[in-house]
This record gives sequence, C-alpha cells and structure tokens, in this order.
Amino acid sequence: MHLKTILSLAAGTGPIADQTACEANVQLLATIAGTLLEDSVAPERRRPVSITNEILENLYSEAKLLRSKAHVNNHCRLHHIGPIATAFLSNTNLKTLVSDPAQPFRLQLATYTYYEEGDRLDLHLDDPASSLSTVIMLRHDSLPGVPRSRLMLVAPEAGRIFYDLENGEAAIFQGSKVLHGREQLRAGESVILLVLLFKLS
Ligand SMILES: [Fe+2]
Repeated sequence: MHLKTILSLAAGTGPIADQTACEANVQLLATIAGTLLEDSVAPERRRPVSITNEILENLYSEAKLLRSKAHVNNHCRLHHIGPIATAFLSNTNLKTLVSDPAQPFRLQLATYTYYEEGDRLDLHLDDPASSLSTVIMLRHDSLPGVPRSRLMLVAPEAGRIFYDLENGEAAIFQGSKVLHGREQLRAGESVILLVLLFKLS
C-alpha cells in the first residue's frame, strides 16, 4: 500500500475521541506504516535542557501575541514563529531537541500551534521529507476536575501512547512514521505548542 493511501486513511479516521470503534483500523495503519518504513525509533517525552523556565516564558509570551493572526489548519490554528523563537533556535544546540544527537538533524520548519475548546488534530503522518518531530508544550490550561486532552501516538511497535505533557516538556517522535494527533479539547481547555520538524541532512 502506498504511503499516500496511508495518509488519506489516517486523515479520515475522525476525532480521536470517537476512535474507540476504529481501534483495529488504527492498529492496521500503524502496522502498515511500520512495515513500509524501517529504522523506527521509539517516541520519547522529556524536558529539554535548553528549555529553561525563562525561555519557556518568553516563547509562550511570543506565541500568545501571535495567536490572533494564526490561520486554521485541520482543526487547530498555526502561526510561524516570531523573532524570539527564531533567536532561541539560532542560539541553541539543536541536539538538545532531537532524539539521537549523533544524527545530523537539520531544522526544517518551526510553528506555533494553538488549540481551544473543541479543537483537535486527526491522526496523520507527516510529510516523509520530515524525519523527526519535536512538540514542545508551552502552555496547557484546563479547568480543575475536567480531563485534559492528550497528544496521541500510534507507534508501529509500542502501540498507542498518550502524552499529557507538562509545560516545557517535549514529545520527540518520527512524525512521518508514527501516526499522531490530539484528542479533542474539553470545556475551558487551551493548548499552545511549539512544533519543530527536522530532517536528516
Ligand atoms: Fe504532524
């Protein structure tokens, strides 16, 4: 099965909240993706050493200012990073933001991503040209007692993984090989992410 077919199938799986009935379909897609694409690396979550509290606050402030100009994509909003994130990425050892520092990763794209109540991101695979995705949680606000939406990954070998990232924490995974999306946000919830796409140079 061609990768494009996998992408279209994944895009058509609907809201993650409604996907219990699609479990077999999701597992099949993950299996197919894992069969087609070799050398998969297990997803990980951690607080990168380069994301200090001061950097985190500065990135969040910039992202918040740009939110009103973000454009709709899928069921969330996106905006290119501004000068603060650009300076951070220029002055930072990018190896702190990837899964295997020995690999020659090159930054390909950097965007702020915004989710509000009712938003979601359907399961999908990234463009095969991107080798690695680093998703940094800048701010996750939610109401007390209300379940929080999570990042969901479906890895070929590890199966379905849910990450409820803390502010400053990152999920690092191969977005072109690991199906990923975000559960629908509940009442009073909002999320701002810095999403970095790397490719092997
Ligand atoms: Fe993606």
